[in-house]
Amino acid sequence: QKTQVAIIGGGPSGLLLSQLLHRKGIDSIVLERQSRDYVLSRIRAGVLEHGFVNLMREAGCGARMDAEGEVHEGFYIAHQGRNDRIDLEKYADGATVMVYGQTEVTRDLYAARDAMDGVVIHEAANVQPHDLKSESPYITYEKDGSEHRIDCDFIVGADGFHGVSRKSIPGDVLKEYEKVYPFGWLGILSETKPVSPELIYARHERGFALCSMRSQVLSRYYIQVPLTDKPEDWSDDAFWAELKSRLPEDVAAGLETGPSIEKSIAPLRSFVAEPMRYGNLFLAGDAAHIVPPTGAKGLNSAASDIYYLYHGFMDHYLNGDSAGLDGYSEKALARVWKAERFSWWMTNLLHLFPDAQEVDQRLQCTDLDYLFSSDAAQASLAENYVGLPY
Ligand code: FAD
Ligand code: DHB
Repeated sequence: QKTQVAIIGGGPSGLLLSQLLHRKGIDSIVLERQSRDYVLSRIRAGVLEHGFVNLMREAGCGARMDAEGEVHEGFYIAHQGRNDRIDLEKYADGATVMVYGQTEVTRDLYAARDAMDGVVIHEAANVQPHDLKSESPYITYEKDGSEHRIDCDFIVGADGFHGVSRKSIPGDVLKEYEKVYPFGWLGILSETKPVSPELIYARHERGFALCSMRSQVLSRYYIQVPLTDKPEDWSDDAFWAELKSRLPEDVAAGLETGPSIEKSIAPLRSFVAEPMRYGNLFLAGDAAHIVPPTGAKGLNSAASDIYYLYHGFMDHYLNGDSAGLDGYSEKALARVWKAERFSWWMTNLLHLFPDAQEVDQRLQCTDLDYLFSSDAAQASLAENYVGLPY
């Protein structure tokens, strides 16, 4: 097999890039380790920045998102018994976010790839990139008991945090920055009406909580839990009771509960690998960086990488100009680090740290008091939440 851009990973990053390139006449093949059903069974992100929303439209994948997704013009931060609102639209020059789940984004991208006869190879085992420093890199993989080879101009590693791409960059080239937080998020999905029309991020002495949603009949809630907890430790009743205890009383009183249809724990990590290019391999999305989920920057940072790569490949193949690809790592990392900063700040603002002293708690509360007393601080939060410009 031969292609122009070989993409490792059929998550949102890989599929979006493949779809955007195809529409510009640039050929790609996507290699995915799992089955399509497995990829679609993962419940992950829920809030899309306006830049990502535009990229989905440009990919020809915006119709169902625009019809079924919810535009949110603000969200709440519950703290010290109050429920204060951040007016995104007011503070971010009219910009908003879209509530539309990663599962639905991925489903729409697969449908678009199918409609254009895009090549996505599932259950590709032992995927291995080769000759990254040469003009003719290639990938080998196993499927149905035999070994296959794809020759290409470029390889894009969009294979997530545990993928093979980042690991194939020599250790003396790659610098990794990492911080692991001393707690996780226990999340549930339930077929209930969301407690609030807009998201609520709650800071509470018992720990952080988040009220989110996928639609008006599907809610997504999270609570901060110790890293040692397992999802099986938490009955639905225990989850609902703990969530209620962390919300303002009037909000808790209106919470509709029901059986969970998914329950899982995600660890919180800040991670960046530099550079994001090695020879003709480009890293994108979770393969290169992880943020803690507070502030919903994970999937959105993956999308900004794809934006820069898409423009770099267009310049290269359509205009013979390599500047976009040459500047990719630097440009992508500049924006990634800002998303890292924002997620780290929101995580620190809203979580209960096991080693926190009284002074830390007072400073958190003061940070929140300052936020809601200052237009400048709310504008800063809003411009980051809706997404910094690409
Ligand atoms: P992925 O979605 O990880 O896709 C990578 C793909 O590559 C996968 O399909 C994988 O199967 C495939 N792959 C891996 N290794 C190989 C290989 N060797 N060969 C071939 N294919 C391979 N973000 C938020 O904003 N909000 C959230 O609430 C949120 N919750 C999350 C919960 C969890 C448990 C996790 C793990 C992430 C969460 N994120 C969240 C982050 C967000 O989901 C990711 O940032 C996003 O999925 C990144 O997309 P990606 O395509 O780069 O990587
Ligand atoms: C969701 C996750 C987040 O991390 C966030 O900040 C907002 C929403 C969600 O899964 O709905």
